[in-house]
Amino acid sequence: MAEHLTIVDHPLVQHKLTLMRDHRTPTAVFRQLLREISQLLAYEITRELPMTTKAIETPLQEMDAPTLAGKKLALVSILRAGNGLLDGVLELIPSARVGFVGLYRDEKTLQPVQYYFKVPDGLEDRLVITVDPMLATGNSSVAAIDLLKQAGATNIRFMCLLAAPEGVARMKEAHPDVPIFTAAVDRNLNEHGYIVPGLGDAGDRMYGTK
Ligand code: URA
Repeated sequence: MAEHLTIVDHPLVQHKLTLMRDHRTPTAVFRQLLREISQLLAYEITRELPMTTKAIETPLQEMDAPTLAGKKLALVSILRAGNGLLDGVLELIPSARVGFVGLYRDEKTLQPVQYYFKVPDGLEDRLVITVDPMLATGNSSVAAIDLLKQAGATNIRFMCLLAAPEGVARMKEAHPDVPIFTAAVDRNLNEHGYIVPGLGDAGDRMYGTK
């Protein structure tokens, strides 16, 4: 069983994250770095996937070779910034099933409002990796995981790029059974709900809006 919070402090992750934080990093590079980090985070988050063996023949002999066990896992992106992580993870695990949760943050209350929900069937038998780059207040992540649990998911992990201590605490309170994997936990949230020092609005930096 993974810890509730895992900070992936691998030098490649930390180096790429620094490049992403820099406000001068252009959109295309930002997106590429996010894709690369998502694969390094995915490597950690899938470390304990159950394995089995299957009989194969190499050019030299037969063998029982290791292979992933169980139903294909599900990746669930919290729109829209989640897609920046999703693309990279899907490249690494191309047979994964994919779901989307559409939530926007009401700028006044900072509370999540749902506008889209579409997930693969059989969630109860799958590892569900939920992806969203910024764990800020935790409101959207908690709401998305509430919805996934209502849809049957029981084995959920949460991947983000950056977290605020407030978001980590909120998730621990609401979903202590959902391990979080992140590249860093920053100092705090500012009065607008942004992570500080952070990297700004991940969706805007990824897609060049604003
Ligand atoms: N969402 C973002 O994109 N950035 C933050 O700092 C907080 C929430």
